[in-house]
Amino acid sequence: MTTPGWALEVARDDLTRTSLVEADVPEPGDGEAVLRVDRVGVTANNVTYAVLGDALRYWRFFPAGEGSGRVPLWGFAEVLASRADGVEPGQRVYGYLPPASHLLVRPERAGAHGFRDGSPHRAALPAVYNSYLLTSGDPAHEPEREDLQVLYRPLFFTSFLLADQLAEQDAGVVVLSSASSKTAYGTAFLLRGGGAEVVGLTSPRNVDFTASLGCYDRVLPYDDVPALAAAPTAYVDLAGSTPLRRALHDHLGADLLLDLVVGVTHQDASPAGDLPGPRPTVFFAPDRVAARTADWGREGLDRRFGEAWRRFAPAAEGWVDVTVSSGPEALRDVWLEVLAGSSDPRTGHVVQL
Ligand SMILES: NC(=O)c1ccc[n+]([C@@H]2O[C@H](COP(=O)([O-])OP(=O)(O)OC[C@H]3O[C@@H](n4cnc5c(N)ncnc54)[C@H](OP(=O)(O)O)[C@@H]3O)[C@@H](O)[C@H]2O)c1
Repeated sequence: MTTPGWALEVARDDLTRTSLVEADVPEPGDGEAVLRVDRVGVTANNVTYAVLGDALRYWRFFPAGEGSGRVPLWGFAEVLASRADGVEPGQRVYGYLPPASHLLVRPERAGAHGFRDGSPHRAALPAVYNSYLLTSGDPAHEPEREDLQVLYRPLFFTSFLLADQLAEQDAGVVVLSSASSKTAYGTAFLLRGGGAEVVGLTSPRNVDFTASLGCYDRVLPYDDVPALAAAPTAYVDLAGSTPLRRALHDHLGADLLLDLVVGVTHQDASPAGDLPGPRPTVFFAPDRVAARTADWGREGLDRRFGEAWRRFAPAAEGWVDVTVSSGPEALRDVWLEVLAGSSDPRTGHVVQL
């Protein structure tokens, strides 16, 4: 007899409506393995996966019932059972996981570094989300810093790619919105001292926290856009707020060189209409990964990222209060809190399942 598994599903048209559903623990067929989801993080990034679930196909990774979705999370899992070559029970992996007790995968290219899930429903989805890294083969894995990895790794990888892209711009000023978010301040951490002034825009209640990080040259509340100097500026948008975008375009006009859309923490989908500055471009991490892999090779990219991570991790440890809760109900509560945006930016939610 198998123990029943579970999954947390949300209504795709109302992300506040949740249900914990029972699910059978999968049995691996030939070439398959079953992962037991162990420890995951929840940040605004996961909310964005849900907000853009249809547009960017995030709902397709972990299929759910009609009208429902399983919001992708990042974290650690253990191989519970395997009928796949090169994948053994007891191995620990880091990767893209469902909000559920288990995940059935079809490992391909299994080796010392890990494997990729070759399940047919994931084949056409961006490869970066389909790989599972074995902790034993990952030079960046530090057992005592697993919670930091759960919370920051995908975000800081984005920060790393963003900072690299921005270094190619001739902007005298880089402005980041949702400056209190981990992805934004990770980017600012890497940009600071690189020549451009790094300015963070955030909610009034988060100004003090954001300024205290020391990653930004200046931190302004959202209403203070008029305080930005008229200088060649790159805008890195993590908030996705249309009124803010409009205010920046109206204020900076031709001085705005780049408007890069990275996130939608404010969950605002209203169209911006005609803008005086440059057309917003969507930042798509997999494209940057492909470009830099071509330039540096995969090892070169991993090495550069590893160096950046080793500089960032000790600093970030002082900027986050990791809050660990346990079990499916706690996961649901954390989801609702992060969705509502009521978490303090200093809180990092980790859930042990
Ligand atoms: N394109 C990519 O590849 C990529 C990769 C990683 C992350 N991202 C995006 O970057 C953004 C930040 O993600 P994160 O995980 O780093 O965030 P996080 O650390 O959880 O950020 C928390 C901050 O986001 C803002 N926020 C969160 N929920 C809100 C709500 N309901 N209403 C208003 N503001 C809210 C607040 O910042 P403020 O008060 O400062 O606005 C809050 O302090 C997300 O949209 C994420 O999807 C994109």
